[in-house]
Amino acid sequence: MIKAKELTKMYDKGYAVKNVSFELSPGKCVALLGPNGAGKTTTLKMISGLIAPTKGEVKFSEKKGGDIRQHIGYLPQHPQYHGWMTAVEFLVYVAQLSHISKKEAIKQSDRLLKRVGIAEAKNKRIAKFSGGMKQRLGIAQALIHKPKVLLLDEPVSALDPIGRRDVLNLMEELKQETTLLYSTHILSDAEEASDEILLMHKGTIVESGPLHQVKKQNQIDKISLRFTENMEVYADQIANMETVTKTEVKKQVLHVHVNNIHLAREQLLEKANEEKWPLLQFEVGQTTLEDLFMKVVNEHAMEDNL
Ligand SMILES: Nc1ncnc2c1ncn2[C@@H]1O[C@H](COP(=O)(O)OP(=O)(O)OP(=O)(O)O)[C@@H](O)[C@H]1O
Ligand SMILES: [Mg+2]
Repeated sequence: MIKAKELTKMYDKGYAVKNVSFELSPGKCVALLGPNGAGKTTTLKMISGLIAPTKGEVKFSEKKGGDIRQHIGYLPQHPQYHGWMTAVEFLVYVAQLSHISKKEAIKQSDRLLKRVGIAEAKNKRIAKFSGGMKQRLGIAQALIHKPKVLLLDEPVSALDPIGRRDVLNLMEELKQETTLLYSTHILSDAEEASDEILLMHKGTIVESGPLHQVKKQNQIDKISLRFTENMEVYADQIANMETVTKTEVKKQVLHVHVNNIHLAREQLLEKANEEKWPLLQFEVGQTTLEDLFMKVVNEHAMEDNL
């Protein structure tokens, strides 16, 4: 559907994006992940045709001449509006920019405002909209010309938990009709809503592929423990065990990475029992996408410091 080849963007201070290549296949929902400044927005802008790459190209497989932008819907990270316009006026205006007739534009606007859940505000001035309502209007705007590819830059970051849920559900529906690439730094959303991930760091893709595959390749067994007190004392004791590869205290939970989950569980429970540890929680599981994200970012930070 869309092929990005060695996309590169340089600004005065250096590379914002460097040699990024990937393919978006039809009907897939792909999450573009990465910390602040990783190059997500720059990549999306180059694909949407809003900025020109310094090097590399974007190919659209169904392109039969004409501007590829007619096939692409784009939600910017910080959508800007004329506050004096109403939602419906704005959508009709955007539709007409895409050469849609006024009659059809009004019909489409009504349909889309319902779809994104702000139909009751159709005649309200955008200046009076909340952040979440503006975000929903932005999604409606991106869909007005029935694009084949939808690019959403941080579609859920500004939303409250209910709005987030609504937009994630909407994205789930939209991926039946369009190919969807969206950026986020909320990893649980990516785990929930995407088929594939592209993980960016400092302008390059450091990890990519189907979500389950990336998770499987990077998954480490871990046991999480919570104590009523003195977490650090137990962390020190546990770190010395032969099945333990790493310990880390985060938000009052001690995360223990292990190389033999069955043996480690047995040993830890035995020790807890013998020494009467004041345990509140004992959970056996695996590392999450968030753990992978932190690992990648930390590894690169360490390389930079060498
Ligand atoms: N117009 C510009 N001029 C100069 N540098 C820029 C410009 N736009 C982006 N950059 C730089 O390029 C890098 C990537 O920025 P980008 O906005 O693509 O990151 P991002 O992954 O979207 O970050 P965030 O999560 O904060 O939205 C950053 O170092 C940024 O400072
Ligand atoms: Mg961004």
